[in-house]
Order: sequence, then structure tokens, then C-alpha cells
Amino acid sequence: MTEHPPPTHLPTASDPTALGARLRPELWLLDPDVAHLNHGSYGAVPLPVLAAQRAAAERIERSPERFYRAELAPAIAAVRERVAAFLHVDPRGLALVQNATEAVQVVLEAVDLRPGAEIVYTDHAYPWVEAAIARACERHGAVRRRVPLPAPVDGTVPAPALVDALEGALTDRTALMVVDQITSASALRLPVEAVAAALGERVPLLVDAAHAPGLIERPVPEGAAFWVGNLHKWAFAARTAAALVVAPAWRERVRPLVASARAAEGFPGSFSYLGTQDPTAYLALPAALAFPEEHLGLTFEALRRRNVAVLRAGLDLLAERLGVDAPVSNGLPIDTLPIGHGDDAAAVALAGRLRDAGVEVAITSVAGRLLARVSVQAYVGLEGFERLARALAAERPTPSA
Ligand SMILES: Cc1ncc(COP(=O)(O)O)c(C=O)c1O
Repeated sequence: MTEHPPPTHLPTASDPTALGARLRPELWLLDPDVAHLNHGSYGAVPLPVLAAQRAAAERIERSPERFYRAELAPAIAAVRERVAAFLHVDPRGLALVQNATEAVQVVLEAVDLRPGAEIVYTDHAYPWVEAAIARACERHGAVRRRVPLPAPVDGTVPAPALVDALEGALTDRTALMVVDQITSASALRLPVEAVAAALGERVPLLVDAAHAPGLIERPVPEGAAFWVGNLHKWAFAARTAAALVVAPAWRERVRPLVASARAAEGFPGSFSYLGTQDPTAYLALPAALAFPEEHLGLTFEALRRRNVAVLRAGLDLLAERLGVDAPVSNGLPIDTLPIGHGDDAAAVALAGRLRDAGVEVAITSVAGRLLARVSVQAYVGLEGFERLARALAAERPTPSA
């Protein structure tokens, strides 16, 4: 039994009453005086998951000696099974890591980077991922090949155009290709399945799926050598928890960034004790993955549909107020609306002014255009968009850099 019955119908754009409703906002500690429209950056941990994390901390404190020596490894193995089932992957190929940033660096250590080797990635890659690629290339004398993403169409880049662009950058020296499943600043859903299929075994593919867990039902594409997804964004995990999924052919090359005396266990056992650390976010993962059904009465998929419907209605409202066109849905509860022109500094400044005005929303700069990247999680209703519309209207005319 769930505490709250599921809605009898999904909210739709033609049913604004249902859309206006926030789903159990009391389950988050979020400041009620603020419109929280940036779930995408850091997520927001619900109270039942914080309680599970706290219970894990208390379990450890009852006997730290017993916990770290005898209980930690089997507990992590059990959590890995649960996360693997959630992602529909083999638990033998899944390690828990702190975050996508760490996982990308683990992968860069595993591939064959020698002088002259090349790494192909796109100009929409997350800045910390690009920084990791740059550092790895510098260290090994390898070369970065940054591919401009072809023009997006309706929240994605068509598979043939994406595959063409990436294949055009391949050479016989390519050691790794890195592609986002959902891009960060532009919130595009990229057809990584088509990229994996086109590459085959020619070049290992790393899918940066930082935003995918909780939004895409079966996110790990067949044929990808590496896939990394954050659980602390859309899967309700306590900060920080992420999954690194590795194809069988690569597992024996993958080692944690910190040397482990359990290295002989190989992947993923070598990741389960990296010195004394706080594992409570990992131990709370079962509670996080159970949260939407247990406390909202919705599966992840039904919640995604509800959140997308709220986002569409909210973006329609915003677009109308600002006199711009609402984008065609990318099928995700995170999307962008163009709001003017400006560089990264202008984006940071505008986001700061909006935050001061009580509205948290990501403002990004992509190819000189300022985008409001808006996220909807259960606790968001249409009134958040009203506040964003008012705050943006107060900003007009468009700020300059
Ligand atoms: C596409 C992408 N990759 C990587 C990251 C890094 O995630 P984290 O800071 O949790 O390591 C993010 C964070 O927003 C992201 O959007």
C-alpha cells in the first residue's frame, strides 16, 4: 500500500488543475520561499532517503570495526545488485563511484592513451569531462578532437547526422569516443544507441549519462564499452552516488583511481573498499530507488511522464510571457528555452540575479545564446514557472555580457 494513491489520470496541458499540483513537497527540505527549477544540477534528496542514509550512519556507529571489516563489502555487493536491476545491466559489470566526474577519469585511465592517440568528444561535453580529457591527453601526449554537435532538431540530434559527424573524426589512432546521453547545458537527448551500433568494436565508446538514471528506462546502450550515470540527480539518491557500467571486454583494465589492496578481486570488487570512506549514500540507494513508488505512488516512468507534462505546460506559459517559441518536447523533464544572447559570464550573472530573486534555474550559454534550462521534479508545480516568468520579465531587455 502506498500512503498516497497514484493520480487517477496523468496531468496534461489541457488539465491545468492537475498540472498545478505539486506532488508531496513536504517530503523535501527545500526552502518553500524559493522556486526550485534546477533539479538537474544536484538533485534534491527526499526525507525518506535522508532517513535511510542516517540509519546507515547509525548502523556504522554501532560498531565501526565490525562494519568496515565484515559488513561493508557484502552490503555494497547487495546494493550493486539492486542498482544493476534498476539499470537492467549485469551486476558483475557495475561499480559504485562517487560521481560522473570520477567515473570518467577511471575510464580515461583504462583506455590505451599513448603519444598520438586521439579522444573524440563533442563541443556539448560537460566542462569537467572536457577538463579530464584535456589532462589525460596532456599526460600521455594524446590529442583531443572536439567535434561540433550537428544542429539539434526538436530536442535531439538526428542519429544519421550525429553518427556522420563523429565518424568523420575517427582515425586509426582514436582510443576513445565520449558522447553524452543527455547533454548538460543544452539538455539534448542524443541517440547514443545509434552511435554505439555504428562504432561496433572499432573504438570504445564512453557514454556520459550523468542525467539518465531515473529518466531513461533502459539507459545503457548495447555495445558501449563504458557508461556512467549519476544516481544523485534524477534517481533520488543521497549525495553522492553514481554507477559505472563496463562491458566484459574492458573489465580487467578498469581500476579505481585510488589504489586498492583488493585489486586482485578485479572489477567491480576492487572498488568496494578505497580506504575509510563514508558509504552512507550508497547504502541508502535501495531507499532512493524505492522512493517514487513508495511515497508518490508512481513508477519512475509514470513520474517522468507527470514531470514532462508539467514542464511542457510551464514552458508554454514562459514562452507566451516572453514572446518566444516553446521548444518541441525532448521527452525529458529538463529542457531549455532561449531567452536572449550572452556568454558564460552573462549566464552566471543572470542565474545569480534570479537566485537572489528567489528563483533557482540553470542559465546556460550555448553558441552565444542564453538558455533557461528548466527542470521539473515532483515537488514542482506551475506556480514555480509563474515566478520564473515574473523574474525573467523583470530582467528585460536581454542582459548583455
Ligand atoms: C553531462 C554531465 N556529465 C558529467 C557531470 C558531472 O557530474 P558530477 O558533478 O556529479 O560528477 C554532469 C553534471 O551535471 C553532467 O551534466
